[in-house]
Amino acid sequence: MRKIALGICSSISIYKSAEIIREFQKKDIKVRVIMTRNATEFIQPLLFEALTGEKVIVDQFKNSAGIEHISLANEISLLLIAPATANIIGKLANGIADDFLSTFYLAVKCPVVIAPSMNENMYLNPITQENLRKLKSLGVIIIEPEVGELACGVKGIGRLAEPAKIVEECISLMERKDSLRGKKILITAGPTQEKIDAVRFISNKSSGKMGYSLAREALWRGGEVILISGPTFLQPPNKAQVIKVNSALEMREQVIKNYKAADIVIMCAAVADYRPSKTYKTKIKKEDEKINIELIRNPDILEELGRKKGDKLLIGFAAETGNFIENAKKKMKKKNLDLVIVNDVSKENIGFGSDYNQVILIDKKGEIEKTKILSKVEISKIIFDKIEKLLNEI
Ligand code: CTP
Repeated sequence: MRKIALGICSSISIYKSAEIIREFQKKDIKVRVIMTRNATEFIQPLLFEALTGEKVIVDQFKNSAGIEHISLANEISLLLIAPATANIIGKLANGIADDFLSTFYLAVKCPVVIAPSMNENMYLNPITQENLRKLKSLGVIIIEPEVGELACGVKGIGRLAEPAKIVEECISLMERKDSLRGKKILITAGPTQEKIDAVRFISNKSSGKMGYSLAREALWRGGEVILISGPTFLQPPNKAQVIKVNSALEMREQVIKNYKAADIVIMCAAVADYRPSKTYKTKIKKEDEKINIELIRNPDILEELGRKKGDKLLIGFAAETGNFIENAKKKMKKKNLDLVIVNDVSKENIGFGSDYNQVILIDKKGEIEKTKILSKVEISKIIFDKIEKLLNEI
């Protein structure tokens, strides 16, 4: 029987935790409850003990709980914190481990899901938002709160998401496990930087979020991941082998070096098509009214891989601003791809830099699937579901 840990914090929506437990149990999933001390001011642990048939953990140093954070961490396939307060979010984002739940978070290796619930001002406070962003970049899944009537009497964002939705998302994460066991996946991410002089470079708006999210998804499915990343501010996933590069030429060198070992290759990086023909070692001084920088073509890494594809699954992205399907199909043919994922890079709210995306997947047979606007985590799930389908067809 699968088992999860449910962290419960002190929010007025704490009563919904009971419903969450019931939903998991209906799917034959065992729940072990961890409460913060403040949460026990709202509800006695007894309620959750009666529901789960297991002792609720509150204090770190009572009974065997001192080491329980390690043993329990190995038993569970997911940690869900619902409701999550601004306090726990702040602690987790900053590595503070001063009670069982925050210590436990540091010890788990499984996916972590957080469902915040609080007053709208607290939720929208830049510090809370910054902490959530940090957790997201570390791979924590955030189930956004909903807009509605809040306990403080105002209408706004901050209501805990519906228990059924929270449980559905958790189960979908747990079900991903192990389907890529034994597979090596090479993923490129982020932009490249092409040096002009000692302090300047040409680059693009790619943040690396899509590629990093794909890497996490592949790891959740039990795959082995080599992540070749251009410069980003993102925290790479724990278990990936990360190779940092700057320029397109460096990226090419690393991709070629690691290509042989890979079963699946996803070129998600926004590789610069051109680089300055000359790089100045020192800073170019402001002397002339006009200067020209000559640009020369970078090698097309994906096209090169396509020429020696063998039995590997080769996936490319197509960054487009119009004529989406036609342009992407041309790229698929030219680069000998099994799957192309089209990105509309002209929109501000999705794609480059955003946590959201909307893509069109086109496979070799011409099958087309268009997604809605979804988080990059959800987009990654759709992409790997498709990849697994293609693997089965090989
Ligand atoms: N790509 C690559 N090497 C390059 C440029 C692109 O490997 N020098 C890869 C990208 O990682 C992506 C795919 O090729 O998976 C398509 O990239 P995109 O920028 O959409 O298209 P280009 O082939 O560069 O063509 P264009 O810029 O004319 O649209």
